[in-house]
This record gives sequence, C-alpha cells and structure tokens, in this order.
Amino acid sequence: MVDLRTTTTLALARAVVRAHALLGDPAAQLFGRSARRDPYPVYERVRASGTLPGSRLGVRITASHRVCSQLVRDQRFGTVPASALSPADSTVHVDGRRLVNPVEESFLSRNPPEHTRLRKLVAPFFTPRALRGQTPVVEHVVEEFLDEIGDRPTFDLIGDFAARVPVRVITDLLGVPDADHASFARWGAALVGALDGVRTAGEMRALHEGLREFDAFLTDLVEQRGRTPGDDVVSALVAVDDLAADDLIATTELLLVAGFETTVNLIGNAARAVMAHDDVRAKLLDDPAYAEAVVEETLRFDPPVQYTARSPLERVEVEGVELAPDTPVVLLLAAANRDPEVFAEPRRFDPGRSDGREHLAFSAGIHYCLGANLARMEAAAALRGLFRRYPRLRIDGRVRMRPSGIIRGAARVPVRA
Ligand code: HEM
Repeated sequence: MVDLRTTTTLALARAVVRAHALLGDPAAQLFGRSARRDPYPVYERVRASGTLPGSRLGVRITASHRVCSQLVRDQRFGTVPASALSPADSTVHVDGRRLVNPVEESFLSRNPPEHTRLRKLVAPFFTPRALRGQTPVVEHVVEEFLDEIGDRPTFDLIGDFAARVPVRVITDLLGVPDADHASFARWGAALVGALDGVRTAGEMRALHEGLREFDAFLTDLVEQRGRTPGDDVVSALVAVDDLAADDLIATTELLLVAGFETTVNLIGNAARAVMAHDDVRAKLLDDPAYAEAVVEETLRFDPPVQYTARSPLERVEVEGVELAPDTPVVLLLAAANRDPEVFAEPRRFDPGRSDGREHLAFSAGIHYCLGANLARMEAAAALRGLFRRYPRLRIDGRVRMRPSGIIRGAARVPVRA
C-alpha cells in the first residue's frame, strides 16, 4: 500500500519541480511532464546555457557529446540509482522479504567489481557470434505477427506489432515458456515508469504491483530451470554456484525489461520516421537492406533511451567545473546525438549520413548496451517485414506518446495499411 506520507512527499516534490520549471530551470523542465511530447527544445535550451550547467534540483546536466562520451568512460564516475532522482522510497516488501528492483540492483546500476562479475556471466549470450543464427528466427517471429494482422485495414503499430516482436525474442532467449505478452507489457511499463524516479502515488502502486508479480513469476521460472535446465540464459545463471538469489533475479529481470521496453520504441520510432519521409520509404522499398541505415539513424535522431546519469566517486573537475562526490550529472544522450560539433545538420533525419555511427544511443564504456547487436538486428528485421507487407502504411489517428522522460516512444500509433 502507498501511505499518505509518500503521497504527500511525491505531491510536494512535483510542485517544487513545476515551480523551478516555470522559472526556467532546464533540468526541472526535463523532469516535468511538459517536455514529454517533444523534449528536443528543452535539450537545446540546456545546450545554450553552457557545457555543464547546474540546476536548483541539485544536479548538473549536459547536452554535450564530448562530456557525455567522457563521463560514461571515466572510471572516476559511477552509476546513479533512479532513487537518487526520486523523493520517495520505492522499496517493496512481501511477507517480510524485500523484493529485488532490477533497475536499482542489477549490473546496469552497479559499479566494478560487482558490475564486471555479473555482466561477464551473461555477455556470451549476446556476442555477434552467439546471435548469428538468430536472424532467421527473428524474421519468422516478425512474419508470424504480420500474418496475425493480415488484411485488417487499420491496426495499432505498437500494440499489434512493435511491442510483440521484442517480448517474444527476449523471452525465447531467456527460456521463458509461454510468455504472456500482456503481463510482460504491464510489468515492463511499471519498472520503466520507475526509471524516471517515481513521481505519483499511482506510479508507486504500479511499481509495487509489477515488482510483486514479476518476482513471483521469476521465482517459479528459476525453480523450473533448476529442475530441468535448457541451453538458455536463466539455466546458465541457475548453474552458477556462488550467485546470490537476488543477483540472479535482478539480472534476469534486467535482461527481460531492457530487452523489450527499449526495442519496441526503436521499431516504433523508426517506422514513424519512415512514414514521415517519402524518400526514405522509397529507398527502403527499393532495397530492404537499407533498413539497417534507417535503424541507425533512428538511434541517433530519436533514441529510445534519452538520458542516463553518473556521479563522481571522488572530487573531480570537468570542463572547469568542480564536482563534489555523489553530485548527479544527467547525461542527455539524445541531445549529444544532435550536437552540431559532431553531426552535420543534426536536426535532419538522414540515413545516408557519414557521421551517424558517432551516436551515443547505446551509451559507451563499461555499461555499453549489452543488447545493441540484438536490438539493431530485431529492429531492421521488423522494418523490412512491415514495409514489405504494407508498403503504403500511414498514420491514421492520434499518436499517444509514453509518459516517460528517459524512455522515448509512442504508446499507440493507429495506422492504415
Ligand atoms: C533499442 C534498443 C536499446 C537501447 C536504445 C538500449 C540502450 C541502452 C543504454 C543507453 C544502456 C546504458 C545505460 C548507461 O550507460 O547508463 C544500456 C544498457 C544495457 N542494455 Fe540496452 N538498449 C537497447 C536494447 C537492449 C536489449 C535488446 C537488451 C537485451 C538484453 C539490452 C540489455 C542491456 C543491458 C543488460 C544493459 C546494462 C549493461 C551494463 O550495465 O553493463 N538492451 N542499454
């Protein structure tokens, strides 16, 4: 249950953020709801106010490609838990047991040496070599879902297609049997909502519910895999002798959530870009292999993960600014991807550009996205399949964006075939 104290704390915190946003504080504008539909003007305001401006919310923020790139690689910096950006404690207890929060406790949010040890356990499953045989499997999944849409004249690009492919791919890879897409979507949405720092009592309730259900589901799965191991990721983790139960659950939950809550938006954002640019559509129809360039440019132009954060582990000077230990620095990866010091005509969507690979959509350094190869391959297969089947696909109704600031994508895109 979410108590009155938490509800009041969250309401007060929202009021403070709103007040600072009105006074022009860019970090407050970013954390407020108004930037959700189009955050890019806020990023440009951050860029215009310096390389590493401060905020009354106690954080530093940057839109600079140089600084983002430096800080994610700098060993003097560590990760920032989402709770550092949230005013309320989101810990959930069931029968006296504290439930694992994969956003806070997985290796995504840990520093070496634990990060190194845990990442090593699952990294072999995501190498280009390990994924080599996966392309036809993913293409098959894409075709299956397109067959289900079939001749329907209208459908929801996200719910009927973009959200389904990544859930199936990552659950297969992890060895999750009979994955129930609707449950995963609900748990993922609750956890991703918490990525931004929980802001409302409703979000807190959704997080508690999501964590409770996800935990029960995974505890069962781990028991099953202990009894009848397969060649999947969860079986491999269960077989590791000295892996703590919480680390096993946090790692599995991270892979599941990171595997579909991001890729759905890469597919959705790329498909919307194709529908908005006739020249891109024409080239894609002419040469399906062009899908890879479209995906790469989508990662630069409108990335599914918009920002991350780091804080110094010791006193550090960056770009002439003294940073005390634990000062959160918000790294606007999506703004870095439009930094005119690195990208020519950064606001132009151009899959043919030669500087595109400099983007930071998958971050860099030790936390470089483990699923980058898988995400690229899935999204390209989804785009190829979608436009081959529906070459004249177009938006037909109001697009609803997700309510998150960190994760960017549409929740609903009505389309006509
Ligand atoms: C378009 C899709 C994706 C995007 C944009 C994306 C983006 C990112 C970013 C930006 C980070 C680093 C965050 C930081 O530096 O603080 C990250 C880490 C991670 N991603 Fe992805 N991701 C995507 C898909 C996937 C997929 C399909 C998986 C599948 C397993 C995955 C698994 C992970 C994991 C495990 C980490 C943590 C790595 C570490 O801390 O060492 N991601 N991702």
